[in-house]
Amino acid sequence: MTALKSFGNGYRALVIGASGALGQAFCDMLEADPGCALVTRLSRNSVPPLDLEDAACIPLAAETVAQHAPYHLIIVSSGLLHRPGIRPEKSLSALDADALQAVFQVNTLGPALLLRDFLPLLDPQGAMALLSAKVGSIGDNRLGGWYAYRASKAALNMLIKTASIELARRAPRARLLSLHPGTVQSALSQPFRGAAAARPAAQAARELLAVIDNCKPADSGGFFAYNGERIEW
Ligand SMILES: NC(=O)c1ccc[n+]([C@@H]2O[C@H](COP(=O)([O-])OP(=O)(O)OC[C@H]3O[C@@H](n4cnc5c(N)ncnc54)[C@H](OP(=O)(O)O)[C@@H]3O)[C@@H](O)[C@H]2O)c1
Repeated sequence: MTALKSFGNGYRALVIGASGALGQAFCDMLEADPGCALVTRLSRNSVPPLDLEDAACIPLAAETVAQHAPYHLIIVSSGLLHRPGIRPEKSLSALDADALQAVFQVNTLGPALLLRDFLPLLDPQGAMALLSAKVGSIGDNRLGGWYAYRASKAALNMLIKTASIELARRAPRARLLSLHPGTVQSALSQPFRGAAAARPAAQAARELLAVIDNCKPADSGGFFAYNGERIEW
């Protein structure tokens, strides 16, 4: 069982993308923490629904869950790598305008609106963490390919870093983090090489919660892996 220390007793958590493998694992783990008083789950199927491809529903969802604010922990665990009609591109010739747009909408533009509407619900000493991916590291890109996913996560990292600077002005003790979960067993990773070595979502969620718990306000705006190591931009 994971017992988080940095939020005090009776902390409230909000998980966006709660229907995914990691999202569900975060919710289960937080619900099992005796120190956690509330876990609010948002996803495309929740009430209210939160669809990152429907900009109008984002402020409406924030308004509804604001009744339990402030939240001490907000996790964004949504993301898009593939779905029918969308595959990670192996070469420039595979780029497709609609697919690029959809991947950016889910991984970057939707999360930008989440930062706009949900950061105001964060406790001044709380933490908001968004799941990014190491393949979004520009410095670490050695293999190429996966244009839309890589670029959308790199841009997400810039949004998080930029928002962390603004957040620090009004809430210097808050933490805003970009996290890489490692390769995790989920629908997102399943079709790809590396999935064989993927870790269970519960293990990754436990590791990521420990990273969040151990991060200090000075770490806000940083890009961290599941083992706590910083990832280069
Ligand atoms: N798994 C890995 O190996 C791995 C590696 C690096 C980074 N990540 C990142 O980790 C995060 C979680 O991934 P996962 O492995 O848990 O994947 P997953 O099981 O496929 O979950 C993806 C989540 O994203 C949600 N989502 C997709 N499109 C959405 C939309 N338009 N609006 C709202 N929500 C939407 C899904 O909701 P529905 O249930 O409604 O479809 C689901 O909750 C993602 O950001 C991913 O990029 C994962």
